[in-house]
Amino acid sequence: MKETVFVKLGGSAITDKDKHATAKHMELARIAEEIASARQAKGFELVVVHGGGSFGHVTAKKHGLADGFRTEEQKRGFAETHKLMVELNQMVCDEFLKHGVPAIGVPPIHLVLQDRKRITHFDTRPVELLLAEDFVPVLFGDVVFDIALNGSICSGDQIISYLAKELRPKQIVLGTDVDGIFTADPKTDKKAELIEEVTNANLPEVLAALSGAKTHDVTGGMKGKVSELIELSKSGDVLIINASKPGRFRDALLGKEVVGTRIRV
Ligand code: IPE
Repeated sequence: MKETVFVKLGGSAITDKDKHATAKHMELARIAEEIASARQAKGFELVVVHGGGSFGHVTAKKHGLADGFRTEEQKRGFAETHKLMVELNQMVCDEFLKHGVPAIGVPPIHLVLQDRKRITHFDTRPVELLLAEDFVPVLFGDVVFDIALNGSICSGDQIISYLAKELRPKQIVLGTDVDGIFTADPKTDKKAELIEEVTNANLPEVLAALSGAKTHDVTGGMKGKVSELIELSKSGDVLIINASKPGRFRDALLGKEVVGTRIRV
């Protein structure tokens, strides 16, 4: 049996968070090449999930979609957010295809149902069928239907957590634009220190440090992400790395020691 590996490309790693719907094309190309070469070397089954960055979050926020939709205007925003995410998804798939990886975009809106922003139903069969034929499913944070709110956002992290419970990956590597989880925001606070490992022992401290992180994220910011990751670490080894540092994704997937945060809860 082949090992399964999950990779998350955070929105901040592949998009310019300050420019509306702008991808970091060069970064995306390099990251895809690194992941493709590690897959080639190790022959693992691969699932890719990417975030929204400046494609999903800005539009979702503009239309107030964090708490669902009611008006016609919000429905247009819902559709527009999905369209932008599909555009980003195509760019991600294109880069993998260029490097010989048979990537196929899998839009969560067709597979996932939520209740108050949490997944209650996820038809994972399309993902499993793709993996069985050695395709690489590429999912993403998306707008989805929600029993209580009409619609809501399902983050890439939620998608990964749910799929990990079903598919039990050997390794889960999350690429972002900083070295891992820090005691404060490393972009604004010089005293921020990298937390190399999150365990049950330091978890309360880590969550307290992250509660104030500023962001225009509609899916819960850093604290929301870490809570999701803790859930995730129950299903496989989780490693958060800086995808913007050349070679780090490849080394992490090849099992080398890299700078990052390991979650073992
Ligand atoms: C958000 O996905 C998707 C939408 C807003 C539609 P994520 O929450 O996973 O995205 P990033 O990684 O934080 O950008």
